[in-house]
Amino acid sequence: MIKHKILENFLDVDEFTKLISINYGDVPIDGIKVFNNIVDREGNTKSSIIEEKLLKKLHNNCHQKAVEILKELHPEKLKLYEYSEFHLIITGKNYKFPIHNDTLNKLLSGVIYLHPEKNKGTIFYKSKKGEISFEVDWKQNRAVFFSRSKNSFHSYESDKNSNRVCLVYNLMTKNFKEVCKIEGLNYYYESFKHFINPYLLRYFGFII
Ligand SMILES: [Fe+2]
Repeated sequence: MIKHKILENFLDVDEFTKLISINYGDVPIDGIKVFNNIVDREGNTKSSIIEEKLLKKLHNNCHQKAVEILKELHPEKLKLYEYSEFHLIITGKNYKFPIHNDTLNKLLSGVIYLHPEKNKGTIFYKSKKGEISFEVDWKQNRAVFFSRSKNSFHSYESDKNSNRVCLVYNLMTKNFKEVCKIEGLNYYYESFKHFINPYLLRYFGFII
């Protein structure tokens, strides 16, 4: 089983209330909307939909918790940390994101289930072929964290009834080379995958 951490009531009431109140507009029933929000190591922000004050508060309140989790799950990667993502992701009620492994730049991958009250949680697999290992059930303000490895395959999808709103919170690096060294991967092949996968997903619905 992939090493992971589940934390209940991850965000404080103010953060959670503000995030679920954001007006993200319409989302096609089989589509996805991603709003990128970033805070770097020096505290500089780049925000698309989360107001700067809230983004800074999220970073201040969550960063230490995330660092502690990464220290526990994959301590060798901690030194590579450069910035944090707080992406708001809304998937339409019929949307399904295929089984994938996270990109190498994600040192710690986190998702916080936001809205609605009922939906589907992240599904983890034993292999890319699709044998389910476990599912982390949906519960509002529940956070799920893992640190990618060669076999951390997972997927997510909406429950066919309503939009699914999540905060994806990742600790990130740009140092691909060093991550490859730590994971024992070929840097050139992994860079190629990183380049080609967004196109494969968009035009063919799968990634390598
Ligand atoms: Fe993922």
